[in-house]
Amino acid sequence: MTWDEVGVARCLHWPILMGVDLDKMRESCQRDQWSLDDFDWSGAPVPLSREQEEQVCSYYVNMSYIERLAGALFLSLSERVEDDRLVAIFESFHTDELRHSHAAAKLADYFDRHHYRIYTPNISMLRFMPHFVNAIDSLNPAFATSFILGGELILDMALLRGLNQYIDDPLSRAVVEKINQDESRHLAMDLYMTEYFARIGRRDAAQDNPWFGSDFWGVLAWGPGFFGEVFFRPMQVLDPTQEQMRAVINRLRRFYDRASVAANPAVQEFKGIVRFLETPLGAHLGGAVEVGIRTMFGIDLGFTRAASTEAVYGRRADLAPLTASALAVV
Ligand SMILES: [Fe+2]
Ligand SMILES: [Fe+2]
Repeated sequence: MTWDEVGVARCLHWPILMGVDLDKMRESCQRDQWSLDDFDWSGAPVPLSREQEEQVCSYYVNMSYIERLAGALFLSLSERVEDDRLVAIFESFHTDELRHSHAAAKLADYFDRHHYRIYTPNISMLRFMPHFVNAIDSLNPAFATSFILGGELILDMALLRGLNQYIDDPLSRAVVEKINQDESRHLAMDLYMTEYFARIGRRDAAQDNPWFGSDFWGVLAWGPGFFGEVFFRPMQVLDPTQEQMRAVINRLRRFYDRASVAANPAVQEFKGIVRFLETPLGAHLGGAVEVGIRTMFGIDLGFTRAASTEAVYGRRADLAPLTASALAVV
């Protein structure tokens, strides 16, 4: 039996996971489509300094590619599930992400009033993308869901929210609001699929272990440059106290600690890394890497500590059984 068949068979017995009704979700995906033409693009943006204009245009140019990457992941998922409702939902998400890509590119042009320079996508991101898409296609789809969940939490909870606070432009705010309505559907399905793949569990050693694939090493090679320059460095401008990034990583840890996702291979990889980083050796290595990155690249990864056991559950968490409320996703 393939994982698809197992998944479909099991889903018949658990039609609603994480509170998602697939029939209603499919209806909502069709009903809530929108178009860039719904907005009036003829006006001028709020006045910006040269530095702000260059930053915002760069962020949106990169975002237009990230949205395409998210679209590719959803398309991959739509081709690897057999439930007609899931296929329709993920195909609609692919359409959503292409629309978001167009919106980001249009917003970059909208803010590019002075044409200070040509805005080109981040090189590490371009190198990262083909390895990442290949890796995702060859891995258990639980990993695609995990990367989408993390990426969407950072993009939607942190980056877009921070961008809207940084540049208070009415058109940008309205477009991002529409994007975030789509993203709330995506996020609900990311959580649903994390449980879905936990019920399937590990099936195939080659697909369940990312370290075996050559493309995964390409992901590791280009990932730090991509995430550092496209997500983390901009967030230092948009969220200087790291409040939003700490909230993202904290929520992810709390969700991954739920018993209902414990058998998900991607969750197990994440928790394995957290466990290692909480050993004396791991803490020493992790601390050295954090200091090295801050010193060499000026990127502060201090927010990742918000996912530590102590930060999430308190100092004596390892001595006390975790309560249901402690594991609840906020
Ligand atoms: Fe998106
Ligand atoms: Fe999305």
